[in-house]
Amino acid sequence: MNEIIDVLNNRCSLRKYAKEMISDKHLDLILDMAIKAPTAGNMMPYSIIVIKDDEMKETLSQTCDNQPFIKSAPVCLVFVADYQKWFDYYRINDVEKFCKKTGRTYQGPSESSFILALEDALIASVNAVTAAESLGIGSCYIGDIMEQYEIHKELLNIPRYAYPVAMLCLGYYPKDYKKKFRTRFDKKYVVFNEKYNILDEKRIKDMYKHLDNRFSENNPFEAKNYAQLHYAVKTNSSFADEMNRSIKEVLKVWNGLIK
Ligand SMILES: Cc1cc2nc3c(=O)[nH]c(=O)nc-3n(C[C@H](O)[C@H](O)[C@H](O)COP(=O)(O)O)c2cc1C
Repeated sequence: MNEIIDVLNNRCSLRKYAKEMISDKHLDLILDMAIKAPTAGNMMPYSIIVIKDDEMKETLSQTCDNQPFIKSAPVCLVFVADYQKWFDYYRINDVEKFCKKTGRTYQGPSESSFILALEDALIASVNAVTAAESLGIGSCYIGDIMEQYEIHKELLNIPRYAYPVAMLCLGYYPKDYKKKFRTRFDKKYVVFNEKYNILDEKRIKDMYKHLDNRFSENNPFEAKNYAQLHYAVKTNSSFADEMNRSIKEVLKVWNGLIK
């Protein structure tokens, strides 16, 4: 079709990497393309932390729900939703005083700035994924960077109005690597025309039926079907609880509930 479609079509998450370090030229290109991503109001309320240090990667592989492959990635990129710089800029330029003087309400960071910064950071990260893939560099998202808020804040020196929302492990594909493509839900259950299409029970069952063959009666959760198993493994897991706790804490900070 064209090269971009081919790159998107042939991407899969990579969790095993060639030992070789990503060249400076390639890393720079990946970062430049991340920064080229669309950004709300051209504000770029995000930062990207480049991690190459082995000790740091070792720690992250533990704090991100014990995923050892993280430390084997030559480079990790942490995408940080970040309003700190804008609010520092406002502070330095007396925006609060200006508001008082002109009868405006001074609005600090809030849930909406948090979500906007998060969207921006994630959109930039997708550009990084695609740019990397086009250079023969595979990637894998690590959502667990949103856990352990306090530990990651300290570890990565993250200021008050900033929060790591995604991490990417990056590395060249190992020689002769055989890509595995995961199946997706049928497009008809994901893409709707003009209005949302609320799915009835029959269609919900049809949408998820391909997952049934992943179910095994022989599971430690006493689950009787794949939905129960999935709930026990993912939604009701300790990492989901930790993510929930972590995000609640961050929102308290951004809402001004924690000084
Ligand atoms: C927000 C997000 C968080 C993810 N977190 C992890 C993770 O912590 N560990 C992991 O091995 N893969 C993680 N992944 C990768 C997904 O498992 C992967 O994208 C999904 O299974 C689809 O496979 P594919 O990317 O190969 O198409 C994450 C992906 C996303 C988008």
